[in-house]
Amino acid sequence: MRRLRRTPLIRELVREVTVSKADLIQPLFVEEALTKNTPISSMPGQIRFSLSSLEREAIELKDRGVRSILLFGIPSHKDDDGSKAYDSQGIVQKSIESLKEQLGDDIVVGTDVCLCQYTSHGHCGIVRDGLVENDETLKRLADTAVSHARAGADLVAPSAMIDGQVAAIRGALDDNGFKDTSILAYAAKHSSSFFGPFREAAFSKPRFGDRRTYQMDYANPEMAMREIALDIKEGADMIMVKPALAYLDVIYRAKKRFRMPMAAYNVSGEFAMLKAAAREGWIDEKSAILEVLTAIKRAGADMIVTYHAKEAAEWLQS
Ligand code: PBG
Ligand code: ZN
Repeated sequence: MRRLRRTPLIRELVREVTVSKADLIQPLFVEEALTKNTPISSMPGQIRFSLSSLEREAIELKDRGVRSILLFGIPSHKDDDGSKAYDSQGIVQKSIESLKEQLGDDIVVGTDVCLCQYTSHGHCGIVRDGLVENDETLKRLADTAVSHARAGADLVAPSAMIDGQVAAIRGALDDNGFKDTSILAYAAKHSSSFFGPFREAAFSKPRFGDRRTYQMDYANPEMAMREIALDIKEGADMIMVKPALAYLDVIYRAKKRFRMPMAAYNVSGEFAMLKAAAREGWIDEKSAILEVLTAIKRAGADMIVTYHAKEAAEWLQS
């Protein structure tokens, strides 16, 4: 076997899995209250952008070859219903408009569709008697997705794990004339400790309880397949497994079973762990990042939502 490992060129010739810039989706946080950028302490190198600096970042990403982003908004004002999530003048809606005005189809603008950054209690839906009310939440998620589509989003990514959210969103998009807006469904999103740094970044930690009544139990890979099958039936164009690294087996099963365009979300905690170890000098940052991204593709993901996108693009050939 060592004949095929003798030189870098031979190794490249026989390489089975490659990561390219076109596979990477960079999540970006945009905060309504900001006039200038603020670093996110729990996620070294990541930034909460103001509306005006977001545009510059998107152009920089595009110039480096990262053409896809996933937007997360942080509103100045939260309420019980998360009403700023579907406000046509909301921070995400304004961001989409300005990005699309600047970059048109040179960028794929995806948006996270959820209420947790917008609700005062921090849960992903409308809360009644201490629990997230499924069907009342559907309408708000649909309104949110339509408001993003109206602003020009290319794809909407519902992440609330509310039953029927993909069907509700597909129906509302079609009814409002947005038949070309696609849905990237966070189909198998697990209740995970690896979301910790994100919740600090986006001020979206639930005030009471946890998300286990809607996000998946990570001990249930067969149930993950049912979640994905339902989202496909409801009209998902692309599916996602989240998190990625402790879930490579779920990614592998999902790709084998469904053969759909599939994303994996290399989440904030996975990013933070790697950065922390690299900062201590315990691992080599660049090679660890490339190894992680390759592993996620090897498991079967076609695209990777990752906070490493911008830095990794510097190192990738194409
Ligand atoms: C919103 C949402 C979360 C993430 C993506 N969308 C937070 C959560 O569910 O608590 C996590 C992303 C990450 O950790 O990088 N529902
Ligand atoms: Zn949420």
